[in-house]
Amino acid sequence: MGVNRQWRLARHPEPTEDIGFEHFELVESPIPTPDAGEFVVQTLALGTSPAQRSYISKSLSMHDKIAIGDVMRGRGVGVVTESRNSNYQTGEIVISSTGWQDFSIQAPALQNPNVLSIQKVVAPIFPLTMTLGILGAAGATAYFGLFDVGCLQAGDTVVVSAAAGGIGSVAGQIARIAGCRVIGIAGGPEKCQWITEGLGYDCAIDYKSESVGERLDELCPSGVDVFFDNVGGEILDSVLGRLALNARVVICGFIATDYREDLNQGPRNYKNLVRKRARMEGFFIFDYRHRFQEAEGRLRNWYEDGLLLNCEDVDDGLEQMPGTLGSLFTGGNKGIKLCRVSPDPG
Ligand SMILES: NC(=O)c1ccc[n+]([C@@H]2O[C@H](COP(=O)([O-])OP(=O)(O)OC[C@H]3O[C@@H](n4cnc5c(N)ncnc54)[C@H](OP(=O)(O)O)[C@@H]3O)[C@@H](O)[C@H]2O)c1
Repeated sequence: MGVNRQWRLARHPEPTEDIGFEHFELVESPIPTPDAGEFVVQTLALGTSPAQRSYISKSLSMHDKIAIGDVMRGRGVGVVTESRNSNYQTGEIVISSTGWQDFSIQAPALQNPNVLSIQKVVAPIFPLTMTLGILGAAGATAYFGLFDVGCLQAGDTVVVSAAAGGIGSVAGQIARIAGCRVIGIAGGPEKCQWITEGLGYDCAIDYKSESVGERLDELCPSGVDVFFDNVGGEILDSVLGRLALNARVVICGFIATDYREDLNQGPRNYKNLVRKRARMEGFFIFDYRHRFQEAEGRLRNWYEDGLLLNCEDVDDGLEQMPGTLGSLFTGGNKGIKLCRVSPDPG
């Protein structure tokens, strides 16, 4: 009988604590066998999201909680290794809620409405990590956030926060492809150099060593048309104070304040939304699941045309997973943070 390694929750992190190995326990159990209607998936790669922190934190969140001793929830790409469901054949590639483990049971009839459904990868592109990254949820989040919520137009001045992170690195590239002027806010000189020289951002602001407000005044004298915000807090406030007429502020995430009740204050500069006839709107990528193919198609074309760089940052081995997730909160990632669990088939 084969072994299934699983990362299970060992304890909840405190709000000010970094996420790390001490919050999880690596356990070995038998590879599961499917009941009627189910199939088994071997995980090939796992994605990450800052939201995963809220699954394991004690505070209230919009996500279902994971109990101590449960396998950590996460979305991955994998291969079907055994099936008792005629719609899923052995060898097929799927994206699903695999969890942090080598093998998972997938039960299409019992899909949790709070997780994205099982998705077949009909035309795989390699490496398969791309199906979780630029061609997957990260790419789709950047795409719908910019076009549907941000109503992106050629010629717009676009600012992206966490610009060297997963969604930010795709958002900046899409805005550049769409003919916008793009300014990225990122932590540290290396990331700022990478987004300008590697990803084609026009300018970068290092929020760790520069005043974001002063730099925005220099770089955007006519104001910001679209702000794609992954961060919240002080950075959101700085940009709100510098909006152009009819600006669109796209609230994608708020990693700077999400887990810190003491920092979780509302924006001070929101009154500028009235003065500038601007709009601030949040969105949730699950609401776009019926349109993922549209995003994937356009992102794939841009990638194949050499316009969009596959900016992924991949750790190797399931045993790395707590550190892989933890790196999002310390700025340890450059691009879309993923973990390879097993080699791609073939
Ligand atoms: N709306 C949706 O449906 C949806 C879906 C998925 C994700 N999200 C949100 O989108 C955002 C980006 O997600 P992602 O998966 O691509 O993660 P990510 O941007 O790769 O996240 C990590 C980056 O955030 C930056 N960061 C961390 N703490 C920060 C702080 N205190 N102040 C400023 N920057 C900080 C770090 O970059 P630096 O080194 O530059 O600080 C780090 O590399 C997150 O807020 C996430 O919750 C939203």
